[in-house]
Amino acid sequence: MSRPVLQYRISARYGATEVLHEVAAALAPAQIVSLVGLSGSGKSTLALALLRLLRYRGGQVTGSIRLEGRELTTLAESEMRAIRGHRIGYVPQSPGLSLNPRLRVQTLLHETWRAHAAGPANHQALLESVQLPADAVFLRKRADELSTGQGQRLLIALALMHSPALLIADEPTSALDAITQASILDLFAKINRERGTAILFISHDLLSVAGISHRVDILHEGHLVESGPPVAVFRTPQHPFTRRLVAAMPRLVLPD
Ligand SMILES: Nc1ncnc2c1ncn2[C@@H]1O[C@H](COP(=O)(O)OP(=O)(O)O)[C@@H](O)[C@H]1O
Ligand SMILES: [Mg+2]
Repeated sequence: MSRPVLQYRISARYGATEVLHEVAAALAPAQIVSLVGLSGSGKSTLALALLRLLRYRGGQVTGSIRLEGRELTTLAESEMRAIRGHRIGYVPQSPGLSLNPRLRVQTLLHETWRAHAAGPANHQALLESVQLPADAVFLRKRADELSTGQGQRLLIALALMHSPALLIADEPTSALDAITQASILDLFAKINRERGTAILFISHDLLSVAGISHRVDILHEGHLVESGPPVAVFRTPQHPFTRRLVAAMPRLVLPD
């Protein structure tokens, strides 16, 4: 296997309570790995720990996080700032909580660009790649004038702006209706195909992520209990929790 984009082994705690217990995994270049677990299992803690942002939520992390071969846990915050947004893109759950509602699309694009780079930007191609209109009317819209789906596409565009090797998306579709959810999942698959971006896709919904994932990691009460290709996880779940998760998946039952 070529060098992993990401390789980690971490534990995390809030005060005296450990919520991630030696969770270890790796992502190969251009791989989509879904991290699936129930609410409270530690998914967001893991995402924030990997970004070295957990302390802003009052948590502490121990262990190792290697991004493109480089150990992140020992880097200074200034060095981390150059990595976040550059080599790791982060897509949060909801545009409503993450985009300043008063700012216009063009301002959000411009500020994200300026935060990390010099020189002219090609915002048009970026917007087109996330299937947003790149015309003047759209660029002048304020964040609170966008639909949730458009807002989520814009968050994805901002995360992709500097062509990161890795995208971490923390339940990026859970605020969306089923059809928009499906189109955003398609968008992640397209980004992965066209750009070769590795994606860590966090979700509470095994069924919805199975189609786009090369591998599914199952997190249960802060333990990584199972990991494998979606087909294997569905057909032959090994861990009792995974078996329960698969058994609880909705099935369509039509009357005769
Ligand atoms: N700031 C915090 N202080 C104390 N406990 C927290 C904090 N944030 C999360 N937790 C706890 O850590 C566990 C994992 O939370 P989280 O990572 O947000 O789970 P998930 O994203 O899977 O829903 C939960 O039990 C949650 O209550
Ligand atoms: Mg969460």
